[in-house]
Amino acid sequence: MQIIRDPEALRAATKALKDSGKSLAFVPTMGALHAGHIKLVSEAASQADAVAASIFVNPTQFNDAGDLAHYPRQEQQDLAMLEAAGCDLAWLPSVDDLYPDGFSTTVSVSGVGTRWEGEHRPGHFDGVATVVAKLLVAAAPDIALFGDKDFQQLAVIRRMVADLGLPVEIVGVPTVRDPDGLAMSSRNALLSADDRRRALALPQALKIARDRIIAGELVGRVLADAKQALVDAGFLKIDYVALVDSASLEPLSEPAGEMRLIAAATIGGTRLIDNIRVVSDTVAKS
Ligand code: PAJ
Repeated sequence: MQIIRDPEALRAATKALKDSGKSLAFVPTMGALHAGHIKLVSEAASQADAVAASIFVNPTQFNDAGDLAHYPRQEQQDLAMLEAAGCDLAWLPSVDDLYPDGFSTTVSVSGVGTRWEGEHRPGHFDGVATVVAKLLVAAAPDIALFGDKDFQQLAVIRRMVADLGLPVEIVGVPTVRDPDGLAMSSRNALLSADDRRRALALPQALKIARDRIIAGELVGRVLADAKQALVDAGFLKIDYVALVDSASLEPLSEPAGEMRLIAAATIGGTRLIDNIRVVSDTVAKS
């Protein structure tokens, strides 16, 4: 695996791949890699001739300085994991590489990025869209893979790529979970053993809510009960639990079309997000 820090070297490496007729898949990450990231890399390897991954803890998408300071970093372990997963090229840009002096451009996606994470983490999606646009332009891949785990982020990136006409196909990959159901996240490393146990209430509340919605129960009541279940489990701050349209991310007060249950809540100082698909054609008609 080639390890590249300099953006010029990245351009040369991806050009060499293209010139040899190989297709390139790209997996952007912020490091602290786990099996969820590795699934994206192995999926990338199955869909293209070569795989590039980036590790960059993007300061502009952190709306909280403490969160940025505490974000886990483990470069050597990450590089070993990427190599073992079949990654050909790891790109580790510096903050100065991506945000040189005088940097003044922001990519801002309205509509799909406005609610939920957009509301609770002001500026977050501007930081994500701007850095992903830059990473995609620099790596110039044929396809780029992102996790369903960050469901709204995936929708924002799809919108941004379509609106800017970036010549890349965006591929979504299902959420990888621990055997007990907790969605894998770099932030899980920050949970105490006790909070890790309590955090399981998040995927459990989503599953129960999904089943009750499919059974035809009132959406408002189901969502209120899901929030209460999180409070009971020890989540101190619940930002949202919502049923949304999968494409527009607009809230739904009753089942319609392709739907997703999405949630964000904080336990022991760590903010977790999760989401689950609700299959509409199985919702009972009342
Ligand atoms: P990060 O949180 O490191 O995630 C990198 C990619 O891994 C994202 O596409 C995310 O959705 C995916 N991912 C994380 N946990 C996953 C899981 N349990 N199952 C499947 N996929 C999972 O998301 C970011 O970084 C950043 O916002 C980034 C896109 C790199 C821009 O800075």
